[in-house]
Amino acid sequence: RKKLNIGLFGFGCVGFGLYEVLQKTPGLKANIKNICVKDKNKAREISSDHFTFDKNDIFNDPEINVIVELIDDADAAFEIVSTALKSGKAVVSANKKMIAEHFTELLELQRKYNVPLLYEAACCASMPIIRNLEEYYDNDLLESIEGIVNGSTNYILTKTFKDNISYDEALAEAQQKGFAESNPILDTGGFDAKYKLLILLAHSFGFIAQPDELFNIGINNIGDLELKYAREKGLKIKLVAQAFKTKEGAISAFVLPKFVDAENRLFHVDDVFNGVITKTSFADTQFFVGKGAGAHPTASAVLSDISALSYDYQYEYKKIQQQEDLVFTNDINLKV
Ligand code: HSE
Repeated sequence: RKKLNIGLFGFGCVGFGLYEVLQKTPGLKANIKNICVKDKNKAREISSDHFTFDKNDIFNDPEINVIVELIDDADAAFEIVSTALKSGKAVVSANKKMIAEHFTELLELQRKYNVPLLYEAACCASMPIIRNLEEYYDNDLLESIEGIVNGSTNYILTKTFKDNISYDEALAEAQQKGFAESNPILDTGGFDAKYKLLILLAHSFGFIAQPDELFNIGINNIGDLELKYAREKGLKIKLVAQAFKTKEGAISAFVLPKFVDAENRLFHVDDVFNGVITKTSFADTQFFVGKGAGAHPTASAVLSDISALSYDYQYEYKKIQQQEDLVFTNDINLKV
């Protein structure tokens, strides 16, 4: 296995989480050699010797062979990731917005420069869903995928439903625990879930869509009336992302809040957990569950990607190559 020298971009909640997780996994031959951050005045948990403010200190360091990108700004993240791939450095990213917005360009860069780009943490944080979709399921077998893919909104829905606290209080808790995006409308408006669904679409069906092609309704308009109705009927409200093949063979995908009953596995996925149900031709349904946000759960997926790079793993994107002419439809078949 290769020894990895990491150049880390960003030292927020997940960046620090990764630092801590790496301290506790000495068996993995990977060390953070340098950390590039933006804010010179911010007090940080570890000594200032670890940091640089110049990204070239990382790109020009020949010993750094892996870039881990954990920043918030999707545009700046795309710059970093493109530069890294062009300079032959493998990349791990947790930036779902950046990946969903630039999927085609990233795929081209990865192919052209033959450098791995992994982003397991970008979708459902700790839950190992991308590699499972990529490697376990043949195209034709997978019929649908649906699930709770945003931890903050599931946390808010659980708290407002169970503990009867207000939406604003629950959101503040999700922010304080480091689950929410810095702009929480990305979570509550269903945008974060849509970015993740776009990533799932690529790895489930080989279909690359743009964010504005899929519609998303968030939880920000759920009020007392809906909560009361759910309580009376023994239901829960969950923000569900789903994608499926229509009878005509097209792909449909969207994000919206749904009432779910206790028969549905998603009913039992509460707090910051995410849950994804796949439906396939021969296996019937399968169910993945895991923490969908938070410093250590997210860092765990980043760690898994770093570990995979020590044996040069990269996604094969077999499905994208096979399904270049898939058609997208906005049909909502709520029976799925
Ligand atoms: N804000 C995201 C969520 C973080 O709540 O799911 C993890 O992607």
